[in-house]
Amino acid sequence: MAKLNTLILVILISSLLLPPPQTESKQSDEKRKVTRLRFYLHDFIGGDSPTVWAVARCNLTDVLPSKFGKFLVLDNLVTSGLDLDSPEVGRLQGTVGQADLHESALVMVLNLVFTMGEYEGSTLSILGRNPLAREVREVSIVGGTAAFRMATGYILTSTYFKDPAGVCNVYEYDAVVYHADRNVLLLPRR
Ligand SMILES: *[C@@H]1O[C@H](CO)[C@@H](O)[C@H](O)[C@H]1NC(C)=O
Repeated sequence: MAKLNTLILVILISSLLLPPPQTESKQSDEKRKVTRLRFYLHDFIGGDSPTVWAVARCNLTDVLPSKFGKFLVLDNLVTSGLDLDSPEVGRLQGTVGQADLHESALVMVLNLVFTMGEYEGSTLSILGRNPLAREVREVSIVGGTAAFRMATGYILTSTYFKDPAGVCNVYEYDAVVYHADRNVLLLPRR
């Protein structure tokens, strides 16, 4: 026991004598910026040119009311206004899946790519759980590029219009984005 105590003491003292580990990190005085965005997502689930496609399901999907195991890939139009012909903001692209055995709740893995306006070429990465039966759902913003580098934040989303004909549902997205505040130079398109 005494030997062990001596050993611990030796290790403690030698660790105090060692120089501190070298690190590359510096105090960052970079400012953070907050950007609020509201946009509308057009979810074409039917009609002539759907933008949401089911790509996988499992044996439970048709058995459970939650549609567990159904996965979809989407590339949806995003506009600044409610109407389909209001100005385009970008596209919401990625996968969503029914990932709850008991209620209809999506796991969302999405990129919002801005195709027009001041954020053109920038992206936001969205990851979260979307329990569709709730009136307002919250999902996380976990990253971004260009104008939205180092983004974090959240999105409150609600169903604006549920199409009885099953062609196009419209969702409202209210986003609060915290990101790096600096000028961004994007490389020109080739
Ligand atoms: C799914 O159902 C099919 C057809 O009934 C069956 O052959 C298959 O083994 C099932 N798969 C699983 C993972 O239960």
